[in-house]
Amino acid sequence: MKSIDQQQAPTSEADVAADRVRIFDTTLRDGEQAPGFSMDRRAKLRMALALEALGVDVLEAGFPQASPDDFGAVAEIAKALRHTTVCGLARCQNGDIDSAARALEAARHSRIHLFISTSPLHREHKLGMSKAQVFDAAIASIERARHLCDEVEFSAEDATRTEPEFLAEIFSAAVAAGATTLNAPDTVGYNTPGEMADFFAYLRRHVQGADKVIFSSHCHDDLGMAVANTLASISAGVRQVECTINGIGERAGNASLEEIVMALKVRAPYFGIDTRIDTRRLYGTSKLLTELTGQPVQRNKAIVGANAFAHESGIHQHGMLKHRGTYEIMRPQDVGIAETTLVLGKHSGRAALRQRLQTLGHTPADAALDEIFARFKVLADRGRELHDEDLHALARGEDPDATGPWRIVQLHSSSHLGSASASVKLAHEHGHEVSEAAIGDGPVDAVLRAIERATGTALELTRFQVDAMSEGGDAHGHAQLRARHASREWRGDGVSTDIVEATALAALSIVNRIERQTPVAIKHPQGVTA
Ligand code: KIV
Ligand code: ZN
Repeated sequence: MKSIDQQQAPTSEADVAADRVRIFDTTLRDGEQAPGFSMDRRAKLRMALALEALGVDVLEAGFPQASPDDFGAVAEIAKALRHTTVCGLARCQNGDIDSAARALEAARHSRIHLFISTSPLHREHKLGMSKAQVFDAAIASIERARHLCDEVEFSAEDATRTEPEFLAEIFSAAVAAGATTLNAPDTVGYNTPGEMADFFAYLRRHVQGADKVIFSSHCHDDLGMAVANTLASISAGVRQVECTINGIGERAGNASLEEIVMALKVRAPYFGIDTRIDTRRLYGTSKLLTELTGQPVQRNKAIVGANAFAHESGIHQHGMLKHRGTYEIMRPQDVGIAETTLVLGKHSGRAALRQRLQTLGHTPADAALDEIFARFKVLADRGRELHDEDLHALARGEDPDATGPWRIVQLHSSSHLGSASASVKLAHEHGHEVSEAAIGDGPVDAVLRAIERATGTALELTRFQVDAMSEGGDAHGHAQLRARHASREWRGDGVSTDIVEATALAALSIVNRIERQTPVAIKHPQGVTA
C-alpha cells in the first residue's frame, strides 16, 4: 500500500482545465458483470492490453472484493499496464477499500472508485440508511482510500434521482476529503439529454471546490439515451465519461465508447473537444470483445456493426461511387475498418455490379453485363447476399447455387482431454467414396483436416464463426468459414444442430465451390484421377 508521501499531488487546476475528455472504460467491470459477458482472467488481461493500446485514460478492471477471481484479474491488470490508470471498484466499506488497495498495489497509476447510493429510493429500500449515515460512510471511506492509492473517485449511485441539494452537499464534502473525480451516474438510464445538461450545470455551480475536480458522467441505456446523455454532459462541462466497448453493461448496457468518441471526432466543430483515443483501433477492439465473450454486436450497430459502412440499395451505391460523402459521414479507415462494402443484393444496381466485377478482374462488355445482371437479380431476389465467389461464378456463366460434387455420407468426431479426432466418409458425384480421419486441436480443427485429406483440397482458415440461430439446447448453429486457397478467399456456411457438422458442411461448401470453379481433373488423396 502507498504511504501518504508516495501519493501523487491532487489533480492540478491546469489538468482540470485541459480541454480533453478522459475516457474511463468500464468494459471489464460494469460490462463484464452483465449476463452473458463474463470473461476469465486471461481474456480480461487481453482486453485490458487492447484498451490501453486504444488509449483509454482510466480502466476499471473489476471489483476486487467481489470474488478472488475479480481480485486476481485486477491485480494482474494493475501489473501489466504501463500508462493507463488502473481502477478498482469498492463500496464505502473498509474491507472493500483495503482489498481494492491490495489489488492495485503494483499499478503504476492507481485509482480506487468508491460508490454509495444517495437517492431516497436506494437509501430507504436498498441500504436502509439515513442521509447522515450515507454522508458519513462516504466521507470516512474517501479519507481512508486517499492514503492507499494515487487517486480517489467518488460515485453517488443513482445520482440523477437524488435530491440535488444533498448531492451538492455530499460532493462538496467529498472534494474536501480528497476525492479528485466526482461521478454522478444515471444508474437506471432515466434522464433525458436536456436534463443531464441542467443537472451537471447545477452541480458545477453548487459543489464547493468544483473547479479543483473532474466531473464524470456514467450513463445507462435503459431508454436508449446513454450516448446522447453522455454527450449532453460533456457539453455541460463534464470531462470524464464512463463507457464500454460495444455499449455492454448492466441491463440495456452503458454508453458505448466508440459512439461517444466518434461523435466528438466527427462533430468536432460542434463539440470543440476531443479524446486521446486512437480511433483506428476501435473496430479491432470491438471485435476482440466479441471474440472473448462470444457475443456479436447487431449488424446495424453504429461505428462497429457489419452494416455501419455497407450499402446495398442501388441509389445509395450509385451515390457512393460518385462521392462517398453522399452517404458516409466518416471514413471506415478512421475506425479501423478496411473498406466500405457495397453489398450486392436485391437492391443493388448495375453500376455497383460492374465496379465489383472489375475489381475481381472481369470486364464484361455491355451485353454480357446485361446478362450477368439479369442472372444476378434472379439470385438476389431469393434474398441472397452475393459474395465474390458467386460473382466469379456468374461471370464465368456458372450457377453459384449449384451443389456438389462432394456430399457427406458419414461424420464422426470425438474429443478427450484436449485432443480431438474426426473421421468423414464423402461421396463424389462421379461415383467414388473416400473415407479419411484426422486429429486436431479441437473437433472443428480435426474435421477440417479430415475433409482436406479426403478431398485433396488444402484450406487455410482465415475466419471461423458459429452463431446460434435460436435459443435452447436444440438450437441450430450457423457456421461461417472463410479460407484461403490458391491466393483467393472463399466463404462457406453450414447449418446443423451439431456445431461440428455445421462446420463440416461449411468447409465442404467451400471445397465444392473450388472444384466447380477450378477446371482441373478431380482428384482424391491417393492421387487417383476420377
Ligand atoms: O451505474 C452505476 O451507478 C454504477 C456505479 C457503481 C458507478 O455502475
Ligand atoms: Zn453502471
